[in-house]
Amino acid sequence: MLTISDTKTLREQLVEWHQVGETVALVPTMGNLHKGHMSLVKLAAAQAEHVVVSVFVNPTQFSADDDFGSYPRTLEKDSRLLSRAGVDILYNPTVEDIYPLGIESPTSVSVPILSETLCGEKRPGHFDGVTSVVVRLLNIVSPNVAVFGEKDYQQLVILRRMVEELHIHTRILAGGTERDEAGLAMSSRNQYLTDAEMLTAPLFYATLCDARDKFIAGTASAASIESEAMGKLEAAGFVPHYFSLRRSADLSVPDKVAGKLIVLAAAVLGKARLIDNLQFDN
Ligand code: PAJ
Repeated sequence: MLTISDTKTLREQLVEWHQVGETVALVPTMGNLHKGHMSLVKLAAAQAEHVVVSVFVNPTQFSADDDFGSYPRTLEKDSRLLSRAGVDILYNPTVEDIYPLGIESPTSVSVPILSETLCGEKRPGHFDGVTSVVVRLLNIVSPNVAVFGEKDYQQLVILRRMVEELHIHTRILAGGTERDEAGLAMSSRNQYLTDAEMLTAPLFYATLCDARDKFIAGTASAASIESEAMGKLEAAGFVPHYFSLRRSADLSVPDKVAGKLIVLAAAVLGKARLIDNLQFDN
């Protein structure tokens, strides 16, 4: 595996592959890799001849009171995992590489409306940072396919929309959410949880499952199921940010509980902000 941080060197290798018609899959990450990331790497390897994994803690998607400074950076361990998985290139650019004119007022891409709801409400500007870095990574790597996780479902919908609207010739592929035995979705931020919080955390997914069953049963209104779930999380020690039933295609609020749906939730537990979701058909 090659580890490349210089964008020019990366481009030279990619041009070589593109010229002989060899396909490339990109998996963008912020590192501190876990089984969730590695499942995307596996998916990528099945889609293309070469796999590039980017590890870049993107400053523009963190707000001033977010955890940018303390976000876990574990490049050596990440490198071992990726090398073992047969990845061709670990791309770990510097901030200057990605934002050559600095991060004060970079050219940015913004997907309106979709970026302002759910997580966008509590984290204004977050998704503009995500789209602005992913468009750069797609331009640098020009991958045939880029793989993202359904764990960050709103991010996935926003990125699909960006790629469609900006005529970017990369196919977006989604990978399912990897969970631990208790059901907790794997996340780099789970390591902020204390041992006691780790015992509480699985209740987050259990509440999503319970709400899904209630939506399907149809014996209570969607609004009452959502507020009951928020109350249950609060009583268990979470600070819930939202718990919301949406259409899975475009995250719009459904007028009836029918079709392809998704229930999404975000809540703070201790120092960790957890997000998760569950798709279902009704
Ligand atoms: P990061 O949180 O490192 O996640 C990288 C990718 O892994 C994302 O597509 C995310 O949805 C996926 N992922 C995370 N946890 C997962 C799990 N438990 N199961 C399956 N996939 C999982 O998301 C980002 O980084 C950044 O916003 C990024 C897209 C790299 C832009 O900076």
